[in-house]
Amino acid sequence: MKTRLMSVVVVIAVVLLTAVASFGHGHKDPKKVGILLVAFGSSEASAQVSFDNLDAKVKKAYPGIPVRWAYTSSIIRHKLAKQGKQLDSPEVALARMMDEKFTHVAVQSLHTIGGEEYHDLRKTVGGFKVMGAFQKIILGYPLMSTQEDMAKVVDAVMGIIPEKRNKNEAVVLMGHGTPHPSNAFYAALMFQLQLKDPNIFVGTVEGYPGIDEVRDLVLKKKIKKAWLVPLMSVAGDHAKNDMAGDEDDSWKSILTAAGIQCTPILKGTAEYDSFADIWVSHLQGPLSHF
Ligand code: CO
Repeated sequence: MKTRLMSVVVVIAVVLLTAVASFGHGHKDPKKVGILLVAFGSSEASAQVSFDNLDAKVKKAYPGIPVRWAYTSSIIRHKLAKQGKQLDSPEVALARMMDEKFTHVAVQSLHTIGGEEYHDLRKTVGGFKVMGAFQKIILGYPLMSTQEDMAKVVDAVMGIIPEKRNKNEAVVLMGHGTPHPSNAFYAALMFQLQLKDPNIFVGTVEGYPGIDEVRDLVLKKKIKKAWLVPLMSVAGDHAKNDMAGDEDDSWKSILTAAGIQCTPILKGTAEYDSFADIWVSHLQGPLSHF
């Protein structure tokens, strides 16, 4: 956290100096619109499918607008750097865009809910706004924000359930979960999904409800089979290990030990057009203000 803070301070200092230097010229830079896509990031090669899908969709929806990427997770960025892949933090990516004389920037969160990562990103965007780095910089909502989004996500979930699944079998979605107050979105999603199909459950790896609560709910209904589905943009480490892994504490092992046969589906939500389109549509708001 300390190194992150330091890097932010350094970037902001550099950006401020650049800004002060350019203010002296007394002319307005020509309009240059850019998009910055910000994901948590993943070091798993399988995650790239999700990011590529989002990248292609954004470029198709908003042709001619340069698209940049940043990862909020410093752990992931450091892991990737060791493999020779340089990924920017949002702070560095925005400083670069400032240096490249972008005047209007739409920053799009590729997170699932407005949790810690999203709110850190808000602070970063706010910082660049306060220092007047761009004429306009606007942050787009994550996947689930408004009630309209929730309805779209419910439809998207209903649309990715395998046809082979029998209605009396469970569908268990694995969200990430967070200590942030927005963790409540997961239970809210489960409520809305169950209005359509009472055998769909939503749990989280690091928040509430956890797998123990979900297991008890499934057992209460005497369900013997469950389809495990990641509710994360990528099928990365959590999906592969915490959800579908063979370790005793994976969701597959915990449910299997309770007599529930599991079929994991290793696909991130951003691999499906229905989910990707929700994120892409969130750019419309910011871009319409430019
Ligand atoms: Co995690």
